[in-house]
Amino acid sequence: MDDLKSKYLSLVADAADEAAIEDLRVQAVGKKGEISLKMRELGKMSPEERQVAGPALNALKDEINSALAAKKVALADAALDERLRSEWLDVTLPSRDRRVGSIHPISQVTEEVSAIFADMGFSVAEGPQIESDWYNFDALNIPGHHPARAEMDTFYTHRGADDDRPPHVLRTHTSPVQIRSMEANGAPIRIICPGRVYRADYDQTHTPMFNQVEGLAIDKDISMANLKWVLEEFFSAYFGARVKTRFRASHFPFTEPSAEVDIQCSWVDGQLKVGEGDGWLEVLGSGMVHPKVLQAAKIDPDLWQGFAFGVGIDRIAMLKYGIPDLRAFFDSDLRWLRHYGFSALKVPTLHGGL
Ligand code: PHE
Repeated sequence: MDDLKSKYLSLVADAADEAAIEDLRVQAVGKKGEISLKMRELGKMSPEERQVAGPALNALKDEINSALAAKKVALADAALDERLRSEWLDVTLPSRDRRVGSIHPISQVTEEVSAIFADMGFSVAEGPQIESDWYNFDALNIPGHHPARAEMDTFYTHRGADDDRPPHVLRTHTSPVQIRSMEANGAPIRIICPGRVYRADYDQTHTPMFNQVEGLAIDKDISMANLKWVLEEFFSAYFGARVKTRFRASHFPFTEPSAEVDIQCSWVDGQLKVGEGDGWLEVLGSGMVHPKVLQAAKIDPDLWQGFAFGVGIDRIAMLKYGIPDLRAFFDSDLRWLRHYGFSALKVPTLHGGL
């Protein structure tokens, strides 16, 4: 009996895993296990012998069972310790840099312009970049024979061989959005129309695709004075300095009278400073919306009047951020953006702010 005891206790102590423990259990106290077989022999013993051997065997069985259970728990603890040792994570390790993008100057400036005009009650209107020639030209008082059509270096789409409708165009300005908005909403109206426009032109200050924002305010008694105030408010907010404007008489088919608008600036050591000095820089076309344009947009010119203007977003981005070549907007990388101080997009918060 003592032999059995020391044999099994040492086997249990050496068991390597749960499977070994289960084998030992079967081998020792299972139905056909060594202890069980011994218990069967009790019947052949004399009553005196049985009285000694019976309790001893039961005690041995209990002892082996509890040794097995204890070893099982010990093995599970050891396995857990081993897992904890191997599956650790160094939370003090600095994280890898995430690659972050940077907002493009055109997007940034479009946001800035939209925010400033929003403060003056203008909402943002958008329209298609492929336009009918009616919206791009006719409705804006530029009939088929008008020289402005030729001057605009328009990209035309193709029509089928036996389709004699006028071809669509890539819009040459965002003025067609003004027509669409007036048609849809009537007067009064106060909108800006930012977006891409296209002209066949390419040099340091022209690219075939560029960005424009046009503005339109129609009401009962809007005048050129309102136009001048709105533009000076806009440029002052945009450049962060009080900016005077100078209006020069001009001509556009869709406005009467029309004016080119210059902003006050100075050049110091080749550096442009907007809002100071006695130089002037042409930035914008504008005027009072032509009655024929109002009519084309189904607004009664005897009741309503207002101003319109158009300015290049790329151009005012170049002026504000000192970017010398327009073409850089299209073939530049992140280092270029950083050079001009455009930072990574901030992550919007839950509350919608930046
Ligand atoms: N549509 C004109 C252009 O693209 C700009 C403009 C808009 C001028 C409104 C006057 C009034 O050149």
